[in-house]
Amino acid sequence: MSGPVGEEERKGLLSEETSYQEPKPEVQNSNWSIKKILLILSTFILGFLLFFGSILECWTRFADGKQQITLTNSNDILVSNGTHEFKPTVLMVSIDGLRADYLDRGLTPHLLEISRVGLRAEWMRPIFPTLTFPNHWALLTGLYAESHGIVANNFWDPETNSTFLYSDPKQSWDASWWDGEPIWETAGKAGLITANLMWPGPPITQTGASPTYYVPFKNKVPLNEKLDQLLQWVDKPLEDRPQLILAYEPSLDQAGHAYGPGSKEVNNSLVYIDTFARDLHQALADRNLSEIIDIVFVSDHGMTDTRHVEFIYLEKLIGQDLVDAIEHVDGWPSMGLRFHNKTDMSKALEFLTAAATNMPDKLSVYTTETMLERYHFNHNPRIAPLYIVPNIGYAVTTEKEGPSRMTKGNHGYDNFQPSMFAAFISDGPFSTTIKYNKRETTDAAGWHSTGEYHIINGFQNVELYGLICKLLGIESFAADTNGTKGFWDKYF
Ligand SMILES: *[C@@H]1O[C@H](CO)[C@@H](O)[C@H](O)[C@H]1NC(C)=O
Ligand SMILES: *[C@@H]1O[C@H](CO)[C@@H](O)[C@H](O)[C@H]1NC(C)=O
Ligand SMILES: *[C@@H]1O[C@H](CO)[C@@H](O)[C@H](O)[C@H]1NC(C)=O
Ligand SMILES: *[C@@H]1O[C@H](CO)[C@@H](O)[C@H](O)[C@H]1NC(C)=O
Ligand SMILES: *[C@@H]1O[C@H](CO)[C@@H](O)[C@H](O)[C@H]1NC(C)=O
Ligand SMILES: *[C@@H]1O[C@H](CO)[C@@H](O)[C@H](O)[C@H]1NC(C)=O
Repeated sequence: MSGPVGEEERKGLLSEETSYQEPKPEVQNSNWSIKKILLILSTFILGFLLFFGSILECWTRFADGKQQITLTNSNDILVSNGTHEFKPTVLMVSIDGLRADYLDRGLTPHLLEISRVGLRAEWMRPIFPTLTFPNHWALLTGLYAESHGIVANNFWDPETNSTFLYSDPKQSWDASWWDGEPIWETAGKAGLITANLMWPGPPITQTGASPTYYVPFKNKVPLNEKLDQLLQWVDKPLEDRPQLILAYEPSLDQAGHAYGPGSKEVNNSLVYIDTFARDLHQALADRNLSEIIDIVFVSDHGMTDTRHVEFIYLEKLIGQDLVDAIEHVDGWPSMGLRFHNKTDMSKALEFLTAAATNMPDKLSVYTTETMLERYHFNHNPRIAPLYIVPNIGYAVTTEKEGPSRMTKGNHGYDNFQPSMFAAFISDGPFSTTIKYNKRETTDAAGWHSTGEYHIINGFQNVELYGLICKLLGIESFAADTNGTKGFWDKYF
């Protein structure tokens, strides 16, 4: 059986040390006279756009109460913060393991303040399995795991006879693992500059695309250093400034694994994250960018207390011989099993089906034929033909592994379980638009307001790709995703 995934996550994702690198955007090596002409031309166009932009802005500001604001999200429009020109910009931070209801603990006043002046979602549903790598790639590609190919944090691919192991970036960053088009690739196609600070995923895709600026993952980088990097990008001159900025922070997930979601360490980590959120939000406000940059905080999955899980021993379910006949185990606590031979597999299936029938409160067992439709976890050779999905409160292990692989908090369970839900908080032109347009229809579908807070209905995270395309004005470049066509239209 493969190594203890929980243990690896506790030590910190991708603990390999790599240093900050900021590749410069390619310098164009163009002919002088063409450059001159372009300069004159673009000054002309710029002037026109500025004029047009300010008319549009006046129109939105003084528009008749019944009129709708249209986001100035054509990617050609420049908006001024008083001193500098900006294009539509999205800054999205993923806080690993930020469970949706962590926000109700009273420990994150600043994230709540951001959601008060902006908005939040009731929850954002992760894809199945509710693990870090499948979900970070779903957030960027808008695809379910069966379509984007990252079917667990560790899994075996029968087509190449190789194993994906998230903790080994040298191998797992190979583009061939990662199907689908991340939003930064789409933005690049549309001619936008992009920046990626440690977001889990490959630095380069199968088509050879990469973010303009890229900082590889390094564990335990203080959030004030990440803040500095993000602001350095925001403060770049217009021609070098990224319009899509992504960032990743793992410390809350690490605390959740090591101490459990109810621990004081998670509470402390929430305060730490909240302070960062305040500083980032304030830094944008200080630059008069609150109505120019869309700031989005998201997460990949939630966290459940696993200190007292009941362990179910695989030997008891299928017998020692069949345990010995297991060739590959993919993922955990939901686990895909592959056996050395077909006879073993069908025998194991018989035993496991009986177990699932006898204790439906503890676990479910699926094959390619019976996999739940709502998991969208089928139709990919990388998905093992036999999957055990334990319920919250349970975990499957072997005599050899014992309870050792379980941390005090964990995720990876059914993505319809509320404790697996992730958070979504946003402020900027998006929330201003949505609130303005919906001010008279607060109980309309997809939206409600508590007077103070503005809360959009819970949604599946594969919809996020479509939102970012909309905010950046690059919808015509969008790839096919598993998001719902027109999903965000009701808010605009
Ligand atoms: C802030 O930006 C707005 C446009 O978004 C502009 O109208 C206003 O003058 C700016 N304020 C300052 C102090 O520059
Ligand atoms: C698959 O890889 C394993 C481990 O690298 C190796 O032992 C085995 O022979 C390979 N199988 C095939 C069919 O190539
Ligand atoms: C964590 O914070 C919550 C909400 O403030 C509190 O109820 C709980 O007791 C805290 N947990 C610990 C272990 O301090
Ligand atoms: C506008 O943004 C730039 C770049 O971040 C910043 O240097 C400048 O101070 C901002 N202007 C205002 C009026 O805040
Ligand atoms: C396949 O499994 C059956 C039952 O466990 C066993 O009798 C048989 O020897 C196995 N065949 C191979 C080729 O390993
Ligand atoms: C998800 O999107 C991919 C890419 O467009 C498509 O191939 C797949 O059929 C979609 N899955 C579902 C469940 O619609």
